[in-house]
Amino acid sequence: MASHLLRQALIFTLAMSACAGSPAEELLPLPPIEGLTAAPDLDPAEDVVEVHLTASTTSVSWADGPTTEAWAYNGEVPGPLVQARVGDTLVVQFTNDLPEPTTIHWHGLRVPDAMDGVPAIQDPVQPGETFRYEFVLPDAGTFWYHPHVRAHEQVERGLQGMLVVHEREPLQDVVQRGFVLDDALIDESGSWYTFDVDNSHPLQMMGRNGNTLLVNGGSDAVQATLTPGVAERWRLVNTANARTLWAEVRGANWRVIGVDGGRIATPYTTERVRLPVGRRFDLEVIPTGRDEEVALDVVLPNRSGGWDRYPMFEASLDWTAPGTGQSLDWPTVDTSGRPEVRQEIVLDFDGRGGGANIEWTINGRIWGQHDALEVEADTPTRIVLRDGSRTQHPFHLHGQFFEIVGRDGQAVDEPGQFDTVLLTGDDEVELFSMMDNPGRWMAHCHILEHAERGMMTEVVVGPSTE
Ligand code: C2O
Ligand code: CU
Repeated sequence: MASHLLRQALIFTLAMSACAGSPAEELLPLPPIEGLTAAPDLDPAEDVVEVHLTASTTSVSWADGPTTEAWAYNGEVPGPLVQARVGDTLVVQFTNDLPEPTTIHWHGLRVPDAMDGVPAIQDPVQPGETFRYEFVLPDAGTFWYHPHVRAHEQVERGLQGMLVVHEREPLQDVVQRGFVLDDALIDESGSWYTFDVDNSHPLQMMGRNGNTLLVNGGSDAVQATLTPGVAERWRLVNTANARTLWAEVRGANWRVIGVDGGRIATPYTTERVRLPVGRRFDLEVIPTGRDEEVALDVVLPNRSGGWDRYPMFEASLDWTAPGTGQSLDWPTVDTSGRPEVRQEIVLDFDGRGGGANIEWTINGRIWGQHDALEVEADTPTRIVLRDGSRTQHPFHLHGQFFEIVGRDGQAVDEPGQFDTVLLTGDDEVELFSMMDNPGRWMAHCHILEHAERGMMTEVVVGPSTE
């Protein structure tokens, strides 16, 4: 716990010195995230954000389609945007009005483990009951929240939302947009396709790939008007149960400025970004004005080796006040060198059994029969992930960030801090983490059906030796 307190103290010191001379009450309001509606902050204190979230059933319909029963936070799919500033305390008063128990997990946030929303630590919230989550937000970035009980059903039915932790003083007058990208499996009657975890359905084995792409809960592309030459910040998250999504921007100069763990030191351009389940990307997007439209497409590989394109966002251009095409003036991010590795853990991903009886394992065990892996806190750690299952697995570690340093023995350049990385079936991925958040943490495949069928384990980050 000591390092928690230290880190929080450090954050506050940094925050205070950043605005030295300007009294705290001059903080400007948080910028909106276009495309998402923020939950109101019910606490007047400047450094506390309190929101109320209630999970319940609701009905939704897509593009003239029939009505489907969804499970929603505050009646919305996705749930409301939760936003605050780095260093703030976030309080979430949660009420469960679902017919079954649930929790909320804050994906990517380095919270204390008691607030992490996992049933191994927090008793699930029973129907009709409440729970108060409260923690300090240690990192700025794009995150998300979702249940950690029967997640393969609860997330699929709509329980998911974006959580943005803004920088202490976010750039003003910069349009920010949020894109919660999901793929839902809907049958002809408009209902979610549901099945029990022990069901032999192949979707249950391979993970549920949907037939309807959703952006911010809708099946139609979001529409807007953009200004040529004026930079915007877009925040993307893949909340699908199983499907890896790729995304491309058309009609703009764009680059990656942030990943799971926040802004990166060296923004980079790329043809498309790959989002395994759970991954986030922050993009800087500057409409060139050469095309009539700016668009965000999800692109999916097709059988003929090409890409199928699905527009999620389409904007026309307003030329009344064109900008200069300048990039945003981001303050630099610290990239202190990586210390020498002092401990290692290995996670082998595989399956056993077959057909309807397959169990997905980590280190040969399913959840419940697993041996937790123990490491010292605050110790430079190599994490080796090996996938011998011939199936993709998006790996997610709770409570810590890691760097992706190698794939199949080769060094890679994937800048930034992550909590999610894709294994592709017969590969080895090398990660580096400081393991600086002590506690008991889940480590699992984020294909939620695989997690439900066993592909979860625990990493116990022990007390610091320093
Ligand atoms: Cu996004 Cu353990 O989860
Ligand atoms: Cu998996």
